[in-house]
Amino acid sequence: MTRVITYGTFDLFHEGHYRLLKRAKELGDYLIVGVTTEAYDQARGKLNVVDSLMTRIENVRKSGFADEIIIEESVGQKFNDVKKFHIDIFTVGSDWTGCFDYLNDYCKVVYLERTKNISSTMLREKNSHIQRIGIIGTGRIAQRFIPEAKLVSGVTTQGVYNPREESAKRFAHKWEINGYTDLEEFYRAIDSVYIASPHETHYNYIKSALEHGKHVLCEKPMVLQKAQAEELFGYAKERGLILFEGIKTAYCPGFNRLLGVACSGTIGSIRNVEACFTKLEKPDRRELTDRIYGGSFTELGSYVILPILKLLGDDFENIHFESIKGDNELDIFTKVSFKYPTGIGTATCGLGVKSEGRLLIAGTKGYIVADAPWWKTSYFEVHYENPDEVEKYSERFLGDGLRYEISDFLTMINGVGKNGFKMTRGESVTLAGIMEEFMSTEGRDPYGGLI
Ligand code: CTP
Repeated sequence: MTRVITYGTFDLFHEGHYRLLKRAKELGDYLIVGVTTEAYDQARGKLNVVDSLMTRIENVRKSGFADEIIIEESVGQKFNDVKKFHIDIFTVGSDWTGCFDYLNDYCKVVYLERTKNISSTMLREKNSHIQRIGIIGTGRIAQRFIPEAKLVSGVTTQGVYNPREESAKRFAHKWEINGYTDLEEFYRAIDSVYIASPHETHYNYIKSALEHGKHVLCEKPMVLQKAQAEELFGYAKERGLILFEGIKTAYCPGFNRLLGVACSGTIGSIRNVEACFTKLEKPDRRELTDRIYGGSFTELGSYVILPILKLLGDDFENIHFESIKGDNELDIFTKVSFKYPTGIGTATCGLGVKSEGRLLIAGTKGYIVADAPWWKTSYFEVHYENPDEVEKYSERFLGDGLRYEISDFLTMINGVGKNGFKMTRGESVTLAGIMEEFMSTEGRDPYGGLI
């Protein structure tokens, strides 16, 4: 009996996939098909696969050619599978010619001619025309957006808006995109916006972008008041538009894996979550000089609260803020304590005090620890009572990590909606409420800076 194996993502199952599987089956008697997991695709930079793993498996099964379907989870797996399944022939399409010659020592490698003029990429692009994203704001985060967006297929950065002509021009020139100082003209040229302007301007920009029919990806903190968040999400829903809060940690593969492990019961019931993120900032920066909207908590609070909301939920009984103030009364270090019926959470952040950046999740059977920069999670450990029993997890985190949220934003726009769970509307609303409470404890007026 000749045993054949082939692999693929098989996204938006098409004629090319069908013909490949048919010919693969004809090469022997028994065909094994490996279908990639979402995590593996993400790890190798394939960021906007539309169909879920189950759908892709089901489509391969429906073709009727596969005798066995396995999942492909990591690089290097092919080599082991060939030996494990006693494979005689390894086959893939001719777009891979030469890539798998190293398997020739163990089985025959056959590259089948690829079917012309069809691919999942083509279908993805046909189903969803390229999203032209415009950036509002020209600061540091906006600078990071462009190279990251280039890595996500299906989006293009069309232009940048800044009411100050000089800043818009400089940014546009540097990144070879269009610069706008007229908001109406800017909206006419784009499909969606990425808002990376100062916090207090978010609300008005989101509202105007939604009014102009644009999808919105807004940097954290999206807004500083619960009612504003509710209003804007309601507004987006009425218009069938996507409104997305950009906390990059929420979308990164490692953080999602960590949440999965934490919630799987392996450390028992979660009782304590401690998250700390500090970043020493120069004293003359906006973050440490803006008396109303500056300070550690408005800047970094979203990151440290995220794991607490994700793991302990939003039904906390009370919340308590403690801050250390700088000379200008802005918080240079803030600690927030959450009390839940069966657990506690502590979120710590600082721009003027340095501490160990760590995420610690304690449960009734064990704990999970991720060291700095856990907000770009690429490694974490699970520990138990027995100190020798340690499980180690690593996950790729590429570049600045904005690519993950851009890719999820695009997926949502294209109506697939599968990633809505990574940062839910409810979580964004709760976060806005916490920001509001912090501002009021500090005696700052969140309405003060509305434009
Ligand atoms: N394939 C093929 N002919 C096509 C498209 C794909 O023979 N027109 C083959 C690939 O060479 C591979 C298998 O089908 O052996 C699964 O490919 P996959 O990467 O899932 O499909 P693509 O359409 O190439 O996907 P993408 O555009 O995302 O790269």
